[in-house]
Amino acid sequence: MSKLIGILTAGGDTPGLNAAIRAVGKTAMNKHDMQVVGFLDGFRGLMENRMIRLDKGALSGVLTLGGTILGTSRDKPHKMPMGGKMVDMTDAIVANCKKHNLHALVCLGGGGTQKNAYRLSQQGINIITMPKTIDNDVAMTDVTFGFDTALTIATEAIDRLHSTAHSHHRIIVVEIMGHRAGWLTLGAGVAGGADVVLIPEIPYDIEKIAGSILKRSATGKRFSIVAVSEGALSKELGQKRGNVQDRIDNAKDKGSKRKAKEELKRIDAKYQKSTSEMTQQLESLTGLESRVTILGHVQRGGTPTATDRLLATRLGTACAHLIDKGEFGVMVAVKGDATEAVPLKDVVGKRKNVPLDHPWIDAARNLGLSLGD
Ligand code: F6P
Repeated sequence: MSKLIGILTAGGDTPGLNAAIRAVGKTAMNKHDMQVVGFLDGFRGLMENRMIRLDKGALSGVLTLGGTILGTSRDKPHKMPMGGKMVDMTDAIVANCKKHNLHALVCLGGGGTQKNAYRLSQQGINIITMPKTIDNDVAMTDVTFGFDTALTIATEAIDRLHSTAHSHHRIIVVEIMGHRAGWLTLGAGVAGGADVVLIPEIPYDIEKIAGSILKRSATGKRFSIVAVSEGALSKELGQKRGNVQDRIDNAKDKGSKRKAKEELKRIDAKYQKSTSEMTQQLESLTGLESRVTILGHVQRGGTPTATDRLLATRLGTACAHLIDKGEFGVMVAVKGDATEAVPLKDVVGKRKNVPLDHPWIDAARNLGLSLGD
């Protein structure tokens, strides 16, 4: 009898998810004689037994579609919102996997999903994951699918914002997603020719940013584009956040850990509004009219680039082969032109930030961009 595998997508939707689902499904069916189902809306669908058959018909015509044909959610198996409370639904999920006689469960997601999948693999489920996120911040893989599409969209946005910036002689601040990693902003900032690039890895000094803009004005350049990560922090806030994080990491009891976590939430709520505040500050420090553009979910929308389709397809194919070989508890990672099965325990609890000696940072500095430090 052919084996049954299940696929789910969890976390934020990401371009390339459908290409990945299609590649796992078609390879599993064509090459390994398996049957495939998809669970709807992430781990919640698995818990609620909501699933669809992924036969050849269902997987046809989805390669170029954005989003995920399976739907997604940020629900975690061990902390699922149920009637206003968070409930641990791990046992129900494990029981469902057994009830369906699932040979393997494929989880497509970012850092959070890797963690949730790892927990399920510790419960005896045959789990295999793939790294997807526009943030490119999953550890132990060169790159995640979705990143290239978002990078292309953010770069094009910066290209287009140049028109208004130079025509009106304005500062345009463009906020780019990426959670707590600067890959998208740095990549789009350098590729789009931004003048200032602010990323979470390098806390900024507003006076220095204003100084670099005024320096440009003095040479006759009457506009500036500032690309800022949603997670970028000023030096003061960065320092405060670092201190609170240390308190969380070194807390001796639950009470002080909880207090420090609440403080961290307050700090994060503050920096989430900081792009508009920073734009106003820049206007008053430079005397140049300033505007802010927040790209938001536009960056995750629409059809994946050819690079993301290829990446998701080769990861999906490799994933189906690994299932056939019985390799579980692993993430199918990108290593140059090859793929590698990395144990989930080596992936979870880590975030891949931009290293300060990364060539993109070096290029930005050498081209005269300000990184706000
Ligand atoms: O992880 C992808 C991402 O788009 C981040 O860049 C962003 O911080 C977050 O998701 C936004 O999440 P949501 O769509 O749930 O608001």
